[in-house]
Amino acid sequence: MGTMKTAPAPDLRAFMSVALRRQSVVGAIVPSSPALARALTAVVPTSGTPVVVELGPGTGSISEVIRRRLSPGARHLAVEIDPDLAAHLRRTKPWMETIQGDAADLGALLARAGVDRVDAVVSTLPWTLFPGEVQDRILGEIGRALAPAGAFTTVTYLYAVPLAGARSLRRRLRSVFDEVLTTGPVWRNLPPAMTYVCRRPVRGV
Ligand SMILES: C[S@@+](CC[C@H](N)C(=O)[O-])C[C@H]1O[C@@H](n2cnc3c(N)ncnc32)[C@H](O)[C@@H]1O
Repeated sequence: MGTMKTAPAPDLRAFMSVALRRQSVVGAIVPSSPALARALTAVVPTSGTPVVVELGPGTGSISEVIRRRLSPGARHLAVEIDPDLAAHLRRTKPWMETIQGDAADLGALLARAGVDRVDAVVSTLPWTLFPGEVQDRILGEIGRALAPAGAFTTVTYLYAVPLAGARSLRRRLRSVFDEVLTTGPVWRNLPPAMTYVCRRPVRGV
């Protein structure tokens, strides 16, 4: 999900090594670009001590941009399902709280980390690789975790926008959030991408 020239070499190597072996989990062959990272992280508060959750951090191309926005005292938790990528993140980005786990268990993972409200969720999860019931479960977990004034952003590739998988994701987003804005395209990404910015989780999801 990005341009090859921008990720630091060790991150790029680690990403491609896992992506080539586990394409059905990673869903991209290169990390997101800085332009996409900036678009996705605009919802991260730059003041106060927010709790920010990143889903599917990979080798951390979005994590670095989240970090730059955060003030001291903020919490940055990153939930990565792949054990090798989680180990890489713990080694290279010790400033964030890496949790090796499944975004579908987000509520339980946050409870274990002592988190009871989340101000922003930034996801680069490969939605189209998930069956509908898994999308529902993850979106429900995000909706329940977010504070009423919180925001959630995620990404889809531009070429996929008209396809059935992306259309069903948009339907699901609208059933969990009162507001769903589509922004972009972000041309400076491989491939170009659109972002969704979602606010006001509908309670009872
Ligand atoms: C498309 S990559 C994005 C990586 C990175 N954030 C970026 O933008 O370059 C998707 C990431 O989500 C992770 N992932 C896939 N399913 C997951 C799940 N259920 N829970 C947590 N992480 C997951 C993959 O291992 C991979 O690191």
